[in-house]
Amino acid sequence: MQTHEIRERFLNHFVKQGHTEVPSASLILDDPNLLFVNAGMVPFKPYFLGEQTPSSSRATSIQKCVRTLDIEEVGITTRHNTFFQMAGNFSFGDYFKREVIRFAWDLLTNPVAEGGFGMDPDRLWPTVYRTDDEAARIWHEDIGVPEERIQRRGGEDNYWDMGVPGPGGPCSEIFYDRGPEYGVDGGPAADENRFIEIWNLVFMQDIRGDKSPKEGFEPVGELPQKNIDTGMGIERVACILQGVENVYETDLLAPVIQVAEHVTGSVYGRVENSVEDVRFRVIADHSRTALMLILDGVTPGNEGRGYILRRLLRRIIRSARLLGATGATMEKFMDTVRSTMTPSYPEITENWERIRAVAVGEETAFLKTLESGTRLFEDAAAKVKATGGTELGGDAAFVLHDTHGFPIDLTIEMASEAGLTVDKDGFDTRMAEQRARAKADSRAKKQVHADVSVYRSFVDNHPTVFLGYDTTDAEAHILGLVSGGQLVDRAPEGSEVEVILDRTPFYAESGGQMADRGTLTGPGGLAQVLDVQKTGRKVSLHRVNVTGGELAVGDTVAAHVDHAWRHAARQAHSGTHLIHAALRDVLGPTAVQAGSMNKPGYLRFDFTYGTQLTSDQLRRIQDISNEAVDTDYTVNTIETSLDEAKAMGAMALFGENYGSRVRVVEIGGPFSMELCGGIHVDHSSQVGPVTILGESSVGSGTRRIEAYTGMDSMRYLAGQNAVAGSLASRLKVTSEDLPERFAQISERLQAAEKRINQFRTAELTARVGDYVMQAVTVDGVRVVAARVADGIAGGDLRTIANDAKARFGSDEAVVVFASADPESGKVPFIAAVTDAAVARGLSAGEVVKAIGPLVGGRGGGKPSMAQGSGSDVSGIDAAVAAVRPHVESALSGAR
Ligand code: SER
Repeated sequence: MQTHEIRERFLNHFVKQGHTEVPSASLILDDPNLLFVNAGMVPFKPYFLGEQTPSSSRATSIQKCVRTLDIEEVGITTRHNTFFQMAGNFSFGDYFKREVIRFAWDLLTNPVAEGGFGMDPDRLWPTVYRTDDEAARIWHEDIGVPEERIQRRGGEDNYWDMGVPGPGGPCSEIFYDRGPEYGVDGGPAADENRFIEIWNLVFMQDIRGDKSPKEGFEPVGELPQKNIDTGMGIERVACILQGVENVYETDLLAPVIQVAEHVTGSVYGRVENSVEDVRFRVIADHSRTALMLILDGVTPGNEGRGYILRRLLRRIIRSARLLGATGATMEKFMDTVRSTMTPSYPEITENWERIRAVAVGEETAFLKTLESGTRLFEDAAAKVKATGGTELGGDAAFVLHDTHGFPIDLTIEMASEAGLTVDKDGFDTRMAEQRARAKADSRAKKQVHADVSVYRSFVDNHPTVFLGYDTTDAEAHILGLVSGGQLVDRAPEGSEVEVILDRTPFYAESGGQMADRGTLTGPGGLAQVLDVQKTGRKVSLHRVNVTGGELAVGDTVAAHVDHAWRHAARQAHSGTHLIHAALRDVLGPTAVQAGSMNKPGYLRFDFTYGTQLTSDQLRRIQDISNEAVDTDYTVNTIETSLDEAKAMGAMALFGENYGSRVRVVEIGGPFSMELCGGIHVDHSSQVGPVTILGESSVGSGTRRIEAYTGMDSMRYLAGQNAVAGSLASRLKVTSEDLPERFAQISERLQAAEKRINQFRTAELTARVGDYVMQAVTVDGVRVVAARVADGIAGGDLRTIANDAKARFGSDEAVVVFASADPESGKVPFIAAVTDAAVARGLSAGEVVKAIGPLVGGRGGGKPSMAQGSGSDVSGIDAAVAAVRPHVESALSGAR
């Protein structure tokens, strides 16, 4: 039975039982505790908690889920997918244990011809919570499962909650026995590989506190009513009904494995559960997860969701490479997932171009990384070997990881290919140090206090009323003061606290716009507002410094936003929208916003795009933005429904969670329309000149434009103008003639430098005789090894080396010269060996190979002449000194 059919049957079964079918929510929901939606019940949480009333008391859904905690397990066990589809039926205070058990049993065991899955009832094993006699009785008496096939288990297995304070309850799980060839007898308690969990029925009745009943702690309360939450793993059921070994071989993923075989040349399943097989499964699993994440708006990045996506994509690329792929493979994998998943998720089609661009962009960047990282790896490995070592240091592995994104196991793999081990402990230490630094950094950052429970009652009872769209000044009451994570009554002079007001004109940082600055003035004191952040999406926390007197809970304060700050912030935010619109105009729809930040007078805008922008493209983006300023468009804000906003063509940042009512900011009708909660100018001309400062790369496939607006733009342009003016007057030309004049000067400078070098070389050539005279004799071979004057380039080194060699005529001789280039920090070096010495078994190529690592470089060439370049000036003397021992050992080896 195909996966799509399993989905259909599930939904039909429950719709027939009076359930309302609810479409899957996005993988990204606004819940600070969740990186991704990881269970079918997540979108229904407010109904369980009684916070909202559902329109129907029975619901069913197939929810997209992502769990990435056990990413390393993927492919190793038979049942872990990072993306999976959880089929669920839910009762909000409607039916309970008896009905849910019956519903599940019927669907699993009803004959296929009657809409069921036709599973053999004798293979099904339910488990119940240790003390749940009621559920055990229903399984035995109502359903007829023999008592010995009903197992009781503790909280760890048979209690379910979201891992955080909130709804929870004991559960009853249903396992399918795959047969003795998969493991030992004894039911799920004995073997969860043979007995595979397919369905979890949660009797959602409790509120768990800080500690989970999973670990034996008592729930802290009861939900207002008894509910049902179930989750059936579509992939696992497919695995059983399709008679395949594991979830990676089902109809939705097997085609990816086939494509992977094709592009890598390796064969899946040659040796059961081999490392190769695991790599194939990683490719299949991660390709699908990556596609579904990108579909829901995630882009690769260095933290949070973006990092998970990046990690998945890189694991795919690496696995393919280790299986033998040499070039790009991502598009083929994504394309295969597209065809298997589109029947259930038709929205993939309209988003395909974007999905493809993001995934392929990351691949292109990572392959480049692999290339540069591989070079670095090889140098490091050569250095280790040159000194006779066998272990690559933890520092080198860390640099590979940190700056080249090399996963440690890739480094270990490559090291073992090169006959080396890796100092894993050293690497772990460096990683731990880095994590500690990052943690300290994030602690030092503004952000809301980590333990959000102190804000909870405000979030529940006193959402802050925002007045900032209409005014910058308002009277407000202090509802709460938080100092160091604790509620306090007063904040004395000199203290830094968070102030919670009933209403505020202060914009809290969001949607890329920085928070307003200003003051709070109370009856007894004055405070400067340093930052404003939202907690629970509802309450604004004003971080303030009390600069005089004191603030106290209950005070009425005058909240005043700094006008100049607000004015410039509006300019920057509207400027961001103008640049976004202009950018799409110039680059087309594949350039998708990946984030933005604007503060008074300055903005930066990140977007996905595979290549560097040309200066012409940048100029056009700037021109179009400034034309929009000049046109003086009216800026309108419209409150509407999300669907309507999309129908209007408003651009939305994927991955953001928008409520049912959204705000559309429109600048000049179709010119720019975006969903946005930020604060904008009233007319586009108020943005002032938009000056693009430049464009750069911020991680793979993502580019960044930075720009000034308003007075900052003016000041910047005036500054540039002054620089040009002063240069022009010093060079005695007009500003317009500066480029031409500059080109002349630089040409003359180059010519002069060339002449200087010629003189230098001539002087050096004159000294060649001295070097030849200083040759030492090693076993009959004359050896010259010298550091010559700084700044002699490779070509000139070759000239003097040839000259010296010629002076030895038919003698046996080895000549080595090295120089340091103080400007670039490079160390060119060269070796020349006379024919007679080559006949003795000496080789210039071997000489440069031996000394290269000592100056942090490498080189190569022929036996008679070889050269190279390094980057460590401090190693030159050691490199020069190493020539003689090398010759000695080469001669003794040749004997
Ligand atoms: N919420 C439960 C689970 O995730 C049942 O859907 O297992």
